[in-house]
Amino acid sequence: DKMKVLTFDTADQASQKAFEIFKEALENGASVFGLATGSTPEPLYEKLVASDLDFSNATSVNLDEYYGLAGDHPQSYRYYMQEKIFNHKPFKETFLPDGTNEDVEGEIKAYNQILADHPVDLQLLGLGSNGHIGFNEPGTDFEQRTVLADLTDETINANKRFFDSVEDVPTQAFSMGIASIMDAKEIVLMAFGEGKADAVKAMIEGPVTNEVPASILQNHPNVTILLDQAAASKL
Ligand code: GLP
Repeated sequence: DKMKVLTFDTADQASQKAFEIFKEALENGASVFGLATGSTPEPLYEKLVASDLDFSNATSVNLDEYYGLAGDHPQSYRYYMQEKIFNHKPFKETFLPDGTNEDVEGEIKAYNQILADHPVDLQLLGLGSNGHIGFNEPGTDFEQRTVLADLTDETINANKRFFDSVEDVPTQAFSMGIASIMDAKEIVLMAFGEGKADAVKAMIEGPVTNEVPASILQNHPNVTILLDQAAASKL
């Protein structure tokens, strides 16, 4: 298949490669960056912040946002993005879904319009331990664009470490759909640690199935997968 799979000794080395892909994209005129949250991209964001790369003419469009959390909530993805990157490395404009919009259909339409107006040049992805990308959980419809997704128990449990208790973890999130993600010209997915090894194997070596949402990336023409040894250990 067409996926380019690169394995590094450490997550930091893989993140350095991701940094170089971002740098090259910027130098080649990329202006819209699809960004992700979670622990996986943190080393990349540190490298971007420490660099002299200039994103002041670039736009970012994030994958997802928890439903019910305002941007000033410390566990919201808006807050994460401000803290990890935007406050230190300014972009021209930055988009995330509005987790407080009770007009769900309106928010979905608005985010689809943002994506239509700002086609993503380079999309960054992490990987859920169940194979999800963004918040597109197993069983997702590959034709889906922006959606208010129900989180699985596995995802809620995986993310509870960031909250005071499991009851505080939102059960839904706005997420770009698989069809939105597949529209990106180029995709970089990073996965680190042995907890991701089964999902990595299924994504790369398994059939393309909506039970493993990330497996759809096998059908994308320009995907680079960056792994550490532990995440690659079952390949
Ligand atoms: C979260 C996010 C994903 C992220 C994934 C892995 O639920 N919605 O975008 O890629 O889970 O998170 P982490 O990088 O912390 O392992």
